[in-house]
Amino acid sequence: LRIALLAGGTSGEREVSLNGADQVEKALSPDKYSVRRFDTATDLPALVAAKDEIDFAFIVLHGLQGEDGTMQGLLDLLGIPHQGSGVLGSAIAMDKHLSKELYRLDGLPVAEWEILTPETARDGAGIATRLGLPLVVKPVREGSSLGMTIAHTEEELLAGIETAMSRGRQVMVEKYIRGRELTAGVLGNDKLEALPLIEIVPGKEFTFFDYTAKYKPGATNEICPAPVSEEVRVKAQDFAVRAHKALRLRGYSRTDMMLDENENLYLLETNTIPGMTATSLLPQAAAKHGLEFPEFLARLIELGME
Ligand code: DAL
Ligand code: MG
Repeated sequence: LRIALLAGGTSGEREVSLNGADQVEKALSPDKYSVRRFDTATDLPALVAAKDEIDFAFIVLHGLQGEDGTMQGLLDLLGIPHQGSGVLGSAIAMDKHLSKELYRLDGLPVAEWEILTPETARDGAGIATRLGLPLVVKPVREGSSLGMTIAHTEEELLAGIETAMSRGRQVMVEKYIRGRELTAGVLGNDKLEALPLIEIVPGKEFTFFDYTAKYKPGATNEICPAPVSEEVRVKAQDFAVRAHKALRLRGYSRTDMMLDENENLYLLETNTIPGMTATSLLPQAAAKHGLEFPEFLARLIELGME
């Protein structure tokens, strides 16, 4: 199979993408696949020109212009199948606001939130009163915690809103859920399988699972399977499958959630192209499920060809 490995791109998660693509390239067996790599920041004309020599695109792009439906649309136009979600699901899941609206419509639990745009009055006091401090402030369409802060005061809230707004027009301010962070992968097209749950335990120097905690080797302890009660495990896996369906996803996804001290779960977001770096979560969960990285990739390609 002739594979175009799409990586790099122009989003804030470019480095994450390049590191992930290195892992994927190493793991794609040369007996089964011939791989040609394209950096979508510069090589789109070459990709278009080579379309008749490509059987499948493996997308390791995160964030805008890669995970958001745009690349999926280009590949559809070129007639090249790819792993994971299509245009609609990718575009929905890139938008944390729309995702939470759809989760809620399906009865899935989410923390209360408000959305601000450049035109909205910065009513820090009002938001703090309505939602309660501390608050999580994040860009609506971003990944890897870029532009995200936790605000303990109105001042921090206003500063956080500006930080997040430098990465996009819409900013989400969300009630902070104190507790443990879990993530649940889902694999399949029509028949969906939930992968073993992972608990994310960032080192003590981190106040949350931020960019450094995510990618600095050893900064975070990932425990798989997560040491939670059977009841929580079943519920979290069910929520991940329902989230995948609610957002119209395909192939695979990874839903991040919080577990509070009363064992209530809250969905944060769903990633349609989860990270593939050496410290990333989904490959670890797949391995615990019996799919070592090369087999996991083969499965994603198979599902993408269906
Ligand atoms: N957004 C990063 C790549 C992740 O979800 O793993
Ligand atoms: Mg994400």
